[in-house]
Amino acid sequence: MNTLILSAADPQAAQTAADLIRDGQLVALPTETVYGLGANGLVEAAVSKIFQAKGRPQDNPLILHVAQASDMERYCHSIPKVAYALAERFWPGPLTMVLPARDIVPKATTAGLSTVALRCPDCAVTRQIIALSGVPIAAPSANLSGKPSTTTAQHVYHDHKGRIPLIIDGGPCRVGVESTIVDLSEGTPRLLRPGGITPEQLLEVLEELVIDKAVTAQLQAGDVVKAPGMKYRHYAPNAQVLIVKGSRESAARYIHAHFVPGDRVLCFREELPLYENCAPLAYGLESQPETLSAGLFAALRELDDPHVSRIYARCPEGGGIAIAIQNRLGKAAAFQTVNEEESL
Ligand code: TXA
Ligand code: MG
Repeated sequence: MNTLILSAADPQAAQTAADLIRDGQLVALPTETVYGLGANGLVEAAVSKIFQAKGRPQDNPLILHVAQASDMERYCHSIPKVAYALAERFWPGPLTMVLPARDIVPKATTAGLSTVALRCPDCAVTRQIIALSGVPIAAPSANLSGKPSTTTAQHVYHDHKGRIPLIIDGGPCRVGVESTIVDLSEGTPRLLRPGGITPEQLLEVLEELVIDKAVTAQLQAGDVVKAPGMKYRHYAPNAQVLIVKGSRESAARYIHAHFVPGDRVLCFREELPLYENCAPLAYGLESQPETLSAGLFAALRELDDPHVSRIYARCPEGGGIAIAIQNRLGKAAAFQTVNEEESL
């Protein structure tokens, strides 16, 4: 199969994509978070192609992308007031809400759950494609299962060339990490995955927010998982990732003491001069954490090379978008960290 890449600016792009979606085919779509691998979310046979293309476990449900908040009622029932308030404040945008699903949503999309995850992406061409196709688009991140997410059309091409008919190229994703997922299907809202909308922002609308354990720690065998995707190894390059915490100086001391050829350092741009002989790769500026989220997956993909044996990674501290970076790097590292300051 020939994989066509059409620019989002091409006047034919949206209609071509919508025709393929209506025909039950896969189309890779840009969003403000990461590129998604989309299909008609109401048709089992179309959705099953996503699982096949990604090598995704069948028990991991998909996010249904809608063109506007008013579509919520078509696919969900028993919608709490807070869902409308969150949609009003954050849609279109990097927020996914888990709500009780109507029967119209097939089990292939929800992986058999009674809930469905909904999101309205902040990307005009993708909302236009959803509207033109007349169906909600089920789309996971377009990466091969387990690998770092795709934040450019070229990343998608690398993973799926010859196996999907179309990629819509909307340029590099602005946010760079996936949407924030909040479960509103039972009682107190629960943060299942931190992302582009920060917990602080959510609490401007919500009175309470429970942070799911899977956000900050490695799940243990037997743990009950709310977002099935949280239990899989994720975002991981081939090499072992180790997060090095602490001050710039203590981290550099640790890394220089342990670095061997074949290792790489994933650091902040401000730190590049500290690692001249350690093949450093900067993923953004520590002083501007949104540049770190925007650059993280491209950097992890660059380091996904069989010749790299270990990656020493620096991770921003604090709240806001840094929480999403801590979660993604944490998962890539199976939450393995060292902090020289603590061991002194
Ligand atoms: O930013 C994003 O959310 C991107 C773009 C393409 O929209 N999509 C994305 O999808 O990250 P994916 O499939 O890579 O991650 C979706 C996560 C998985 O961890 C999945 O288990 C969880 O959402 N999920 C989906 N439906 C769910 C549900 N009904 N209940 C709980 N978790 C759910
Ligand atoms: Mg994903």
